[in-house]
Amino acid sequence: DSDLIQKTDERYRETLPNLPKGKGWITEHLVQYQGFWLTPNAALKILMWVQDHFKPRPTDIFLASFPKSGTTWLKALIFATVNRTRYGFADHPLLTTGPHDCFPFLDAHLQEKDRSRFDLDRDPKDVLVSKWLFLNKLRPKDLPPISLEEAFELFCQGISHYGPFWDHVLGYWEGSLETPEKILFLKYEDLKKEPLVVVKRLGDFLGYPFSLEEESKGVVEEIVKLCSFENLSTLEVNKVSEQKFSKDTIIDNRHFFRKGKVGDWKTYLTTEMVERLDEITYEKLLGSGLVF
Ligand code: A3P
Repeated sequence: DSDLIQKTDERYRETLPNLPKGKGWITEHLVQYQGFWLTPNAALKILMWVQDHFKPRPTDIFLASFPKSGTTWLKALIFATVNRTRYGFADHPLLTTGPHDCFPFLDAHLQEKDRSRFDLDRDPKDVLVSKWLFLNKLRPKDLPPISLEEAFELFCQGISHYGPFWDHVLGYWEGSLETPEKILFLKYEDLKKEPLVVVKRLGDFLGYPFSLEEESKGVVEEIVKLCSFENLSTLEVNKVSEQKFSKDTIIDNRHFFRKGKVGDWKTYLTTEMVERLDEITYEKLLGSGLVF
């Protein structure tokens, strides 16, 4: 309804000038709204629209990962699990279509509905390194790259897309303790270590539990293999195609697949950085029962 949309546009225009500003990692600066750092155009405007007009249904599925904590991977796993009786593994859509097209972002496809919520999170040290390398690839060529020192400072201050990291993680962690049937909290590291166990848990949570017959036929293994870094990152679609998120945001699919390892932060972060980041994580998550 155009009246309602206009109202949200007005709210956006009135709110925006009064929000705290932080340095952007690509070009657009970030603004702090209700505690979190967002890009004004791509994120805040849409968030306001969602807050004002979006009515979730009981059957909706949301994936609420912190950027660079494994969104692409979990999108593929959820898509493959939910649709496993619809497609064969030999001609699966994931072999020819990027995970972000199979499982679109909320802002890109508000009409497509799934259910419940997931949260996928990851050691903040790996998130920082992954994000720093990723966003430098997205920066226009005529701008100098963001240095690791600068990225580190911004990340520690919480100024990063959808940050602070710790507030994001804690919100969903607490939510998952309060309503475990509605929020499933997953860690990248657990998914790496025991993919079969986690995917079975995913099936249960989604309401698509794997039957004994499926288990003995190796369906869980097939899904894990289909969505593995080794498989997805070598597919033509993920090597050469680009993903159009909006008019102005087009990203090469290959940027979503870098290394896919736990602990790659060791290659980049200094001892001082590690100590400071670990200290922040320890203090922020203290008493929550959550550890990375
Ligand atoms: P690295 O940069 O550490 O390699 P997001 O999808 O949220 O943007 O997260 C991107 C991170 O997930 C990148 O981490 C990427 O390599 C990793 N990743 C992508 N697909 C993966 C997969 N199938 N299995 C494991 N990790 C994956």
